[in-house]
Amino acid sequence: MYPGSFDPITLGHVDITERAARLFDRVILAVGRHPSKRGFFDVDERIRLAELSIAHVPNATVSSFSGLVVEFCRAQGARILVRGLRATGDFEPEFQMGLANRDLAPEIETVFLIPPASHMYVSSSLVREIAGHRGDFTRYVSDVVADAVRARVRAGDP
Ligand code: COA
Repeated sequence: MYPGSFDPITLGHVDITERAARLFDRVILAVGRHPSKRGFFDVDERIRLAELSIAHVPNATVSSFSGLVVEFCRAQGARILVRGLRATGDFEPEFQMGLANRDLAPEIETVFLIPPASHMYVSSSLVREIAGHRGDFTRYVSDVVADAVRARVRAGDP
């Protein structure tokens, strides 16, 4: 299970998905639904963009979940939680979340995968920030995501 907000999915997320798909029989990329948080894209669009961005990974699928990620793991029969670990401050919060998830579900193991150095600093908010200022963010996302982000920025705040 590879959970996240994926708002939007970046090439960093795609890289982690590919790595997980080489390690495990099946990978579920799980988009968290948080009704109180208004995202850049709505969850259905995030799912669509994730599906298109990882379509080349045959053993990976996309789902969404609400509530605790470990409960979704249990419901899906997933025993491994995958998280990407970048060089830019991920360790402390990931360590805390990993330990909390272990308290909640000791049978589920968290596995951290590291992206290549070229993706170490990429994040969804970096993409949103650059796009919002009409800069070139296209090296960080797939072509379909780039098109969708441009359209979203052009449409402005609904
Ligand atoms: N490449 C590029 N960016 C990456 C990345 C990678 N490999 N790994 C993480 N990121 C970025 C994301 O783009 C995102 O960037 P942003 O903050 O700039 O938008 C940031 O890291 C964190 O995003 P994400 O990894 O999606 O984590 P999250 O904190 O948004 O979501 C969930 C994590 C899904 C577990 C959480 O939101 C959730 O749904 N929790 C439910 C409750 C729960 O079970 N909590 C755990 C128990 S305490």
